[in-house]
Amino acid sequence: METKDHKIIRWQEKMNDLVFKYLTQNHAANQSVVNYQPPLELRDSVDVSLGKQHSEDECWSLVEQVLGNSVRTTHPLFLNQLFGGYQPEAVTAEWLTTLLNPTMATYEVAPLMTIIEKEVARKLSDLVGFKLGEGIMVTGGSNANLVGLLCARQFKVPDVKKRGYQGKKYTVYVSADAHYSYEKAIHIAGLGIDHLRKVKVDTTGAMDPAVLKEMIREDMALGFKPLMIGTTAGTTVLGAFDPILEINKVAREFNVWLHIDAAWGGGAILSPTHRHLLKGIHLADSVTIDAHKTLSTGLITSFILCKHPGMLKQTNQGGGTEYIFHDYDNSDWDTGTYSLQCGRRADALKLWLLWKSRGDKGMGEIIDHLFNLSHYAKEKIEKHPRLKLVSSQYLNNCFQVTPLKDLIDINQFTLKVRTHLVQSGKALVNYAERSDGTLFFRLVMSNNQTTNESIDLLMLAIDESIAAMDAVC
Ligand SMILES: Cc1ncc(COP(=O)(O)O)c(C=O)c1O
Repeated sequence: METKDHKIIRWQEKMNDLVFKYLTQNHAANQSVVNYQPPLELRDSVDVSLGKQHSEDECWSLVEQVLGNSVRTTHPLFLNQLFGGYQPEAVTAEWLTTLLNPTMATYEVAPLMTIIEKEVARKLSDLVGFKLGEGIMVTGGSNANLVGLLCARQFKVPDVKKRGYQGKKYTVYVSADAHYSYEKAIHIAGLGIDHLRKVKVDTTGAMDPAVLKEMIREDMALGFKPLMIGTTAGTTVLGAFDPILEINKVAREFNVWLHIDAAWGGGAILSPTHRHLLKGIHLADSVTIDAHKTLSTGLITSFILCKHPGMLKQTNQGGGTEYIFHDYDNSDWDTGTYSLQCGRRADALKLWLLWKSRGDKGMGEIIDHLFNLSHYAKEKIEKHPRLKLVSSQYLNNCFQVTPLKDLIDINQFTLKVRTHLVQSGKALVNYAERSDGTLFFRLVMSNNQTTNESIDLLMLAIDESIAAMDAVC
């Protein structure tokens, strides 16, 4: 009789064939990135209802339908989000993690994984310049920003966990272009969105330190207590880097916690050529870094790094001593006491195995490749008679498509071309809109499968969409 383990092995072998077929298809000419279907049509085309027991063959047919109806984020023209592709080492580590299925709560249950996570966090902390710093993995850059804010709160209001804010009003400062997760963090932390100050950005999308200083002064005069400045190294839309050195001076003058959201830009720390973008990062109190964004380690590979030893534990610790966090010789190694989660996936393995396989030099090359792609894409956009480059920074190229006729609005035309491109299935590239109403393609280089040839193909696909929209507009 087949045991459960035999079934795992047999299903895995079957899966291997599908993986081979799926990945090979990614590189076939005309393989679409997405077979876009509206939700109701998609729901009607796959039997997702639960209740009836399905045979093994039916289950495999469902597996194929899942593959066929999902976006190919490993396709070289998946350029929609700040992640894409998959490093082979990371996939192997994912499978290993799934097979072992440890939880990062205690050393006892995840001995080597704990040591590996600490090593990866130490390495990143070293690169950032946090000599005594520590770090932990979290469920995404958004949550890393939240934990950064919670650390700031713990630092500034040490008895907050027990006594709350005691009627005091604390303020947090981020740039107008900062990621929306800061807004979530401030309401989750109970500080109130009204106390999130959005600091004006300059023309590049970077925070203006003079405006920041003025805002803090005004708030203090009104009795508010500045808690944290949340800068961004690599903004989501434009790829701008807030001026860390100047902002740090403001943070120190007013004794405010300095957090850097380097979820997107943090990868540059690995590249000797590009790490200057993060100059001054060591001055921060905490830093968010997402390896899945620039290293193709797969969702999720996120870290919160903190300069002050013990602060993560002070901030996140609470409960569980009666059954899980026992007082024993190695309890210092129990990472669950540093974390907001109880059960926690061993996500460090992906980055660790990749780093082992490539070394420091190879890790830098992954980032440099993305920079090269971004330059190549920029040149293509600049040379294109119908594309208008709006901004080019870091790995983000933002551009509009000029209509043939003056009467047609450029924003609307850009959106039509983008919609046509996505529905053609040839490439997935996102768009964004500025507060002044300018709408543009946001082309980001994050996918390790993308090459210069992919960008040539993207330009051809955009040309086809432009021609199709010219014909109807
Ligand atoms: C600057 C920045 N910070 C934070 C995040 C959130 O990261 P995650 O998707 O890992 O939660 C993003 C996501 O794109 C981002 O661009």
